Amino acid sequence: MDAGQGSGSMDAMHSAKEEVKRAADIVEVVGRYVQLRKAGQNYVGLCPFHSEKAPSFTVSPSKQMFHCFGCKKGGDVFAFWMEYHNASFPEALRELAQKFGVNIPEKPLSPAQRHRAEEREEIFRVNERAMSYFARLLNEDRRGLAALRYVEERGISREIIEEFRLGFAPDRWDGLVEFLKREGLSLDTAAKAGLVAPRKSGGYYDRFRGRLIFPIFDLGGRVLGFGGRVLDDGMPKYLNTPETPVFQKGRCLYGLHAAYRAIRGEGSAVVVEGYMDFLALRNHGLAHVVATLGTALTADHIRKLRGYAPIVVLVFDADEAGDAAVLKSLPLFLNEGVSAKAVQLPKGEDPDSFVNQWGLERFRELVEGALPLFDFYLERACSEKEMDLDAKARVLKQVAPILSEFHDAPQRALYAGHLAEKLGIRENLVWEELRAGRRGPAPTGGKFQDAVGTPLRGQRAGLDGIHLLNLLIHYPDAAGPLMESDWKVLVSEDWIVRVVEIFFERYARDGAFAPESLLEQLEEEDCRKRLREALLLPPFYSVELAQEAAADFQKKIRKTKLARAYREARARGDMEGMNQLLKQMSHGPQGPFGEP
Ligand code: UTP
Ligand code: MN
Repeated sequence: MDAGQGSGSMDAMHSAKEEVKRAADIVEVVGRYVQLRKAGQNYVGLCPFHSEKAPSFTVSPSKQMFHCFGCKKGGDVFAFWMEYHNASFPEALRELAQKFGVNIPEKPLSPAQRHRAEEREEIFRVNERAMSYFARLLNEDRRGLAALRYVEERGISREIIEEFRLGFAPDRWDGLVEFLKREGLSLDTAAKAGLVAPRKSGGYYDRFRGRLIFPIFDLGGRVLGFGGRVLDDGMPKYLNTPETPVFQKGRCLYGLHAAYRAIRGEGSAVVVEGYMDFLALRNHGLAHVVATLGTALTADHIRKLRGYAPIVVLVFDADEAGDAAVLKSLPLFLNEGVSAKAVQLPKGEDPDSFVNQWGLERFRELVEGALPLFDFYLERACSEKEMDLDAKARVLKQVAPILSEFHDAPQRALYAGHLAEKLGIRENLVWEELRAGRRGPAPTGGKFQDAVGTPLRGQRAGLDGIHLLNLLIHYPDAAGPLMESDWKVLVSEDWIVRVVEIFFERYARDGAFAPESLLEQLEEEDCRKRLREALLLPPFYSVELAQEAAADFQKKIRKTKLARAYREARARGDMEGMNQLLKQMSHGPQGPFGEP
């Protein structure tokens, strides 16, 4: 069909990449996952890749790149997609191309890249097929009748079964194995997907047997893995896909693909612990809900959620484990700048049982009355009427290590005061306990953080490497007078030397060009990181001062060279040379020897 393909496929690939880059506006793409606000030329938001409370994650529409001044992650729209979705480059290219309607030819990959991408593709394919197999058993096979009855008894509607593609794994060792064989799918891949395991005697056996199956999706609706519940009191109650190249439990939130729009719309997310809690709430019509799959909340979870909403409401089971989980997650939320609340359910209830017994309106009321996390914890921990000293000491011991994890000192002080008040003890007792424990990490914030969006207009700045680079980035035509000079005498950082060299080569060839395209010419990631940062810094020189700055650089270069020559002459004992040089120094650039 496509006549242009074939020998030129590398070029075709390159142009597909360029085309996607043009079509996929980085602000639009990133903005789906990170709440961005405009700050000067750029957009800023809380970084999805590391803990922070003040935005240092920057997206530049003009340069079509992002960079985090905190963790230094950055790059173009593909780099964002790969990092955020834990995807390979070919996946990122294909997914973005698809979203933005760009046709892409097949790309020749390096053997390692090809292997990794193919392995992931195969795992997704076998997961997809396994999901269909399980679904058919639940919905269309008499072997799945008991499971179907079980789901229905728990109040789950047909629509929900359909929407979340629930299934059933028959109670035998080779149900899926035989199915996969018939379909001609690789059992080796199924083993990598965690669906089957090798037998000692050779061959494979099913991992999920006699279980109701919950497929786990990524944001694009691909199947990452599965959870499976027994239909009786068997143990373990739930079995999940182990870690695979596409599935990490701590990174995924069950149901997020179906919930993120509603979370954005509501401005908050409800987080529950279990598959059934999630499904029961969806079943009753609550859409802004996700489940954690029974793991503790991770910073990764919280960063994902905060891309959609600034408020998270935890509805965990009313038991001691639930309380401890709530307390543990407190520093995570504070350190991620997310406002977290928690809800107390009546004793012995979970969201599933609650909503089925009392209905959605009552559940919504509970969510609306959620307490801020710390208050929630204190209410529970100090619920006995008369707390004796031992009880107070217990609470203090439990809370102190949590407080010491706060990155923010004022916040720590506030909470310490609050705790002292609640316990009816003097505040310095809390501080002593804090000192006795571990010290929290120092407050974060790189030295460039203040510079985000605050240009130094009109101010005269220094004349070293980073200033030279800044001048060139914002006023490329300053290259004209500077590129023939011995500018290297001003630059002590190797990476700036490299960048400026390339800059001048390009300028000599093409004239003024978009400086962010230099990123593609740099091989080392460290060097790219630094250049990205430099690209995002505001201009150090105002338009009026730019020309003068170029002249200042030339003067400084000349002076530096003369001073160096003078030192050398003196070291040689060359009196004549020293005299000459002194004269030149006092004459400046218009002196008898002028410019080189
Ligand atoms: P729960 O024990 O609270 O189960 O575990 P549940 O969601 O209320 O389930 P039902 O109502 O009895 O069916 C909460 C979550 O913890 C994970 C599962 O993701 C579960 O949904 N879990 C629990 C496991 O991974 N393995 C287990 O053995 C138990
Ligand atoms: Mn339950």
